[in-house]
Amino acid sequence: MKNPFVKTRKMLCFLAIVCIGNWLALHANLVAAQEEAIDQKQAFAQTRIAVQKAIGPIERAMVGYRESRRCFSCHHHTHAIIGLTEMAVRGLKVDRDLLKIQFVQTVGRTQGVEQRYLNHSNIGGGVDTTGHALMAMRTGGHLPDETTTAMVKWILKRDQGRGFWTGTKNRPPTQTSDATRTWMCLDALEHFGPQELSNEINERKSKSRDWLLEFEAKSTEDASSQIRALHVIGKADLAVKQFATELINQQRDDGGWAQTSEMESDAYATGSALITLHQYAGRATNENFYQRGIKFLKSSQLEDGTWHVKTRATPVQKYFESGFPHGRDQFISMTATCWAATAMALTLPKQKKESEKLTSPIFELSKENETQFLARFKKEIWPLVSDNKKSSCVRCHDSKHRSSLRLAGEAKSDFETMLSNGLFHPKDPIGALFLITSDDKSLVMPPSKLPGWNDEQIDALKRFSQDLYQARIESK
Ligand code: HEC
Ligand code: HEC
Repeated sequence: MKNPFVKTRKMLCFLAIVCIGNWLALHANLVAAQEEAIDQKQAFAQTRIAVQKAIGPIERAMVGYRESRRCFSCHHHTHAIIGLTEMAVRGLKVDRDLLKIQFVQTVGRTQGVEQRYLNHSNIGGGVDTTGHALMAMRTGGHLPDETTTAMVKWILKRDQGRGFWTGTKNRPPTQTSDATRTWMCLDALEHFGPQELSNEINERKSKSRDWLLEFEAKSTEDASSQIRALHVIGKADLAVKQFATELINQQRDDGGWAQTSEMESDAYATGSALITLHQYAGRATNENFYQRGIKFLKSSQLEDGTWHVKTRATPVQKYFESGFPHGRDQFISMTATCWAATAMALTLPKQKKESEKLTSPIFELSKENETQFLARFKKEIWPLVSDNKKSSCVRCHDSKHRSSLRLAGEAKSDFETMLSNGLFHPKDPIGALFLITSDDKSLVMPPSKLPGWNDEQIDALKRFSQDLYQARIESK
């Protein structure tokens, strides 16, 4: 019989070797994991810097746009709101005031044309404008109300009996694809559609699903929107998966996507394709294709933080400088920069559970300050706003006025309206001070045919606005 102790000794030896081996392997794994974590951290830090660099020019252009124009836009409103909201959730430094102003403007401009929606009249830009406005409103957390219901009804009346929506403009890539229009309209119906219209909405959704499944994408814009639209309708997971694979197959050797097969890769197509694949088709941002896309974006980002994409749209609007670089290409480059920076930001871990709503007022005051400033408003500002001969604001801005500023002719409620519309902003072009002192004939209030406020009145408004700005609750 063999000595049992010898056997046990051998066993113990064997076990010790196994243990040491395991420990060594574990240690090696641990070191590798640590190294990977450090690499990952560095990659996140680099991405963070790149995205942050893009935010400055986007924010400056938002203000620059307001300095020159009053109207709601897809490029400087919706695209910026969608992009900056995603970036803020991922802990990037975004100026909440600027973002809220852009949002408040979008809602205000839209409410200003509510009557046109109710009458089913023509809206400049058609469903492109309506869809973009509602998308910005949804992103900022705007809840369904009378205006959005009127807009949904207006959308349902367009292209009735069809499984898609068409448009009046042909401005590629943003304003040309019926798939994009269909996606935006479906998104609007989904989020703002009232219960009483659910039959009509479901019918439209089902028709759209059929159309989308048959739709042959001819551009990256088409392909992205087809996926987005099917995702919004739901119950089309297989198709979404297949279309996503097809879109990934369109990726070029340089890691980017091109708008069309004849064009080169650019930030617009690459950014929007990546966003689509992650947010609407559930593909992960650490997949190889996504990382290659990010590499392309990083290598094509310019020193000033922006991306330059050439326009191929026929001009519609009178040209002006919004403060974004790239001259005549600035409108598409603004959008492209929003998409590229957003696609990069999506690779970063979220730092907040969900995006902060933009619906709270730009100017929040403590109860005490509100009482104090209301008293000052009544004394110093209200007489100028309501009882200032032809220059009185209340005279035109009554409840039926065609702009978003509707004053009731009653001091307390008008103070609140002016406060929440940001009219007391002393620096931003949204403020009354800016409008009253503007030398731009298309912006100045009261309108340029009328006498403006005198220096003393302007000084009173300036003092009031500055004090109020100091006293507001910082929301950053
Ligand atoms: C429905 C979306 C949308 C809205 C709303 C919109 N724009 Fe644009 N805008 C575009 C698109 C698309 C382009 C073309 C961008 C490109 O590819 O170069 C553009 C381009 C421009 C240009 C460059 C010249 C031109 O027309 O191509 C200016 C200036 C401009 N927009 C100003 C405005 C102003 C002012 C308003 C408010 C009346 C406005 N936009 C509203 C989508 C919109
Ligand atoms: C003679 C009539 C008239 C007077 C007086 C007048 N406004 Fe206006 N206001 C308008 C019109 C018309 C518009 C819309 C312009 C447009 O759509 O481009 C407008 C637009 C505005 C807007 C932009 C609202 C929006 O939808 O973005 C603001 C803010 C504004 N006015 C403030 C004032 C203030 C402050 C005063 C007083 C100092 C004033 N207005 C006096 C006619 C007037």
